[in-house]
Formats: sequence, structure tokens, C-alpha cells
Amino acid sequence: MLKRIISPAIPLQRLVSYGRHNSQGLILWKYNRACRRVSTSSLATPGLLRRVQSDALKTPIALTYKDLEAFSDKLHASKSSEEQEKVLIQSAEFLRQQVPIRLAHVLVALQNLPYGANSAPSIKKVYDLYLESYESCSNFPEINTPELEKGFADLILTRLKEHLVVRNSLHNINKKYSWFTPHFSPFFFIIKKKLNDISFENISFLLQIVPHICMGLLETAEQNPMIRIEETPYLNDFVDRICHLRVSLRILLGHHIQVRWSRTGVCKDTDVSAYVEEAASDATIQCEKYFGEAPKVNINDKRKQKHFIYIPEHLHHISYELLKNSMRAVCETHPNDLKPIDIRRRGKEERGKGSKKKKKVHKLNILFFFKKKKVIVDTPQTVTIKIADKGGGIPRADMEKIWLYSYTTAVDPYGRTRKELFELLKKEAQQALNRDILMALKNTPMFGLGYGLPVARLYARYYGGDCEIFSVHGYGTDAYLHLNDLSKSKSPLIL
Ligand SMILES: Nc1ncnc2c1ncn2[C@@H]1O[C@H](COP(=O)(O)OP(=O)(O)OP(=O)(O)O)[C@@H](O)[C@H]1O
Ligand SMILES: [Mg+2]
Repeated sequence: MLKRIISPAIPLQRLVSYGRHNSQGLILWKYNRACRRVSTSSLATPGLLRRVQSDALKTPIALTYKDLEAFSDKLHASKSSEEQEKVLIQSAEFLRQQVPIRLAHVLVALQNLPYGANSAPSIKKVYDLYLESYESCSNFPEINTPELEKGFADLILTRLKEHLVVRNSLHNINKKYSWFTPHFSPFFFIIKKKLNDISFENISFLLQIVPHICMGLLETAEQNPMIRIEETPYLNDFVDRICHLRVSLRILLGHHIQVRWSRTGVCKDTDVSAYVEEAASDATIQCEKYFGEAPKVNINDKRKQKHFIYIPEHLHHISYELLKNSMRAVCETHPNDLKPIDIRRRGKEERGKGSKKKKKVHKLNILFFFKKKKVIVDTPQTVTIKIADKGGGIPRADMEKIWLYSYTTAVDPYGRTRKELFELLKKEAQQALNRDILMALKNTPMFGLGYGLPVARLYARYYGGDCEIFSVHGYGTDAYLHLNDLSKSKSPLIL
């Protein structure tokens, strides 16, 4: 119904097919007008927008895990530094041609956000940032020397840094790092560690893309009271598409950067239960901060699957989001068995000496199911992780809504609004820039932003896996995370 009342922006494809029968000038005029509504940047010149338009009509080359691996193998196999430089130049040149196409797809997807979401201030910021990236990447000269390759790698780094994303990883900051990771801590760590020549202070503001897109949705709903985000799955599909394109880009760029500097790619032999355990310990820290105490996590992994090719940071991120949700549900449903919300004090101090009540322990159970190649040769190796809680479950009527960006039932214990939470995320990320990383991470909100589940599912689906939630209202929730071993999967990683 709403779809009919409020017509979405004219899709680029339609404008272009329209142009086949009409004058080119009219299409471009309409197209430029549509873009200018989205952009506030002085970069949005008709010439640049025309280039975006034509790049968005190209299909990016799809890559598989094998392609990514071939690049790292080739680099390892090269005997002389000249050979290595040649491989790096080849990869950088491939990126130089491919990245603008993918950026153009993101730009067009942002332009086409329906219900006027494309003109929300936060979306405009995201758009301008992508436009800037597009401009610098598409203007980069053909890469045929080691100097140009180095220049391009630096450019990617700066761009990745400015497009910094989602969320927090509290743990192991000094041990784990990755160029493309969704968690901002390791990212900063490695930049600081390896590239002192890049200046951080020059960044005027730090944009976190996914929170900004969600913020843009809230602004859209504010501007137009007819729109209820929870009732617009159509809008959700658009956001999903943008986030999907974003993951592709970051893997592609992150892989090049990571292989270039540390010789290992983004996909690694991943100890699944170790990463889930780490996510559980990170979620526990967050939960203790909010609720004073956290439910115990039982990890039941008898087979201890060791050889599983995956992107470990993504596994951490997905399980961290699922575990935070379960912990919140358990703490809110059993407030008498767990500590009340208090940020300053930890559980034991507050319980007091006189308390004789025996504490009921609520647990989260994590189970692992593996499937090995046995009968059918082509069956990819998979792992399914089940996270089960008794946190009261989700009402049946809300089961569809939980996958919508911006949907949350959380009420912030400190009375902060959604906008304030988003602002906090931005501020803390800024602090991370000023080198107080751990503090900044600890201050990020545990829940209430409303994109934990949709982003987790997006990551899981990206590699042919999935994330499912089954719930019995009044009792508890089971989350199933299905993962594919990337080395066994033949489906393209990057679309
Ligand atoms: N295990 C669970 N038990 C009960 N409700 C759940 C569970 N997991 C998710 N939900 C419901 O789904 C909603 C959406 O979850 P989601 O993780 O996307 O957002 P959030 O946790 O509210 O905020 P954030 O984006 O900060 O994680 C939650 O607000 C909650 O109502
Ligand atoms: Mg959540």
C-alpha cells in the first residue's frame, strides 16, 4: 500500500532504458537532478556523475575464494622481488579497474533509496564519502610501476580508514588485526603499527557507514510520519543491497592490502570454536558492564573442528551479535536471578554479605554440528552453530521484524535515545582515532541500534551460509548459524 502512495526514486536502469527512445540530454538532466538531491558535495559535477552512471551499468567481475587464493599463492611463489612487484602491480591494476565499478553500484543504490531516504542527511554523508572514493579511485592513473602500486595501496588504506565501520571488539586488540574487519579496533591497531606515515589527525570526521545508514532511516521516518520503518521490508532490501556491496568491496580491498603487507589473505584456516569462545568472552564483558553480571556460556564442541577456511573476523562478528542478543534477553527476563543494571559496580560487590538466596544460574548453550564430505564429493563442508537461550523468546508477530535494519525493542538503561546512541558510536570511534582505543570500545552500546541481526545474517549469507532464529515466546530462542568452508564452496565470493 505504502509502496503505491510514495513512489520510490526513479531507478537508474529505467532512466537509461528510457533514454534509448528519448534524447540523451533529457536522461542526463534527470539523472543529474536525482544525484544532486542526494549529494551535497562540490564533487558532484555533471561530468563525474556521468562517469558514475556509465560505470554503474557495467557488471563487476565475480571472484571466488580460489581467485583470492591464487593471488596470495602467486606472491608466495615468486622468487625475486621483481616478480613479487609484478604480481602486486597486476592485482592493483585489477582493483583500479574494478573498484570504481563497485563504488558506482553503491552510489546508484544510495541514490535509489525509496521513500525519500536518499535525501536524509546521514545518507547524504554516506553518499558523499562514496563519491569522494569513486573520484579518487577512478582518476588514479594506470598502474604499471611499483611506485604507482604503493600509491594505490596507500589510497585504499586511507579510504578504508575513512569508511570505517560497524562495531566493537573488546578483546585481544593487540593480537588480532585485519584490514577490512568490521571491528574498528584491530583496524586502527595495524594502521598505527605498520604505517606511521599516514596521518590520522587530518580526518575531519569519522564516518561509520552502517550506523549512518540506519540513522538515515530514522531521519526518513521522522521527516515522513507515514513511514514506519518496521513496515517497509522494501526499504530493507535496498539497505541489504548496499551493505552487501560494501562487504564485497572491503573483502576485495582488504585482501590486497593484507596480502601486500602481511602475506596472508583475508580467508584463513579458522578454529571455529576458538573464535566463538572469544566472541562469548567479548559479549560477556559488554553484558557485565550493562547488567552487572552475565549468563554463563557453555560451549559444547566435541569434534573440535580445526580446518575450516573462513574469514575469522566475520565469524567473530556474527557470533558476537547473536550472543549479545541472547545475553540481553536472559538478563532482562531473569532480573531477580541476575544482577540489576549498574555500570559502576560488578556483581559480587553489590550482592552484599547478608544475601542468602541461592542464585539460579542461567546459561547459554552453544552447540556445533559438522558435516563432512562423505558420500557426495561436491557437498561443501559445513558447520552449524546453535546458540540457545532461555531468555523469554520473541513474540511470533515480531519474528519478521527482527531482520529489519533499525528495528529494536531495546530501551537504553541510561535513558539515551537512538540518535544519542548513534552519536555516541561516532564519538567513541573518534576517540579510538585519538588512540584511546580500549576505552572507546568499552563505551559503545551493547544493544539498541537495531542492526545487529540483519548485518549478522548478511555476513553469514554472503558466503552461502545463513542465520536463522527460532523462538518460543515465553520460553527462549535458538539461533542457528550455518557456515560454509570457503575452500569447498564454488559460489562466487564477490558479486
Ligand atoms: N535471543 C533473543 N531473545 C529475545 N529477543 C531477541 C533475541 N535476539 C534478538 N531479539 C529481538 O530482536 C531485536 C533485534 O535484534 P538486533 O540485534 O538486530 O538489534 P538490537 O539488539 O536491538 O540492537 P543492536 O543493533 O545494537 O544489536 C532485539 O531488539 C530483540 O527484541
Ligand atoms: Mg543486537
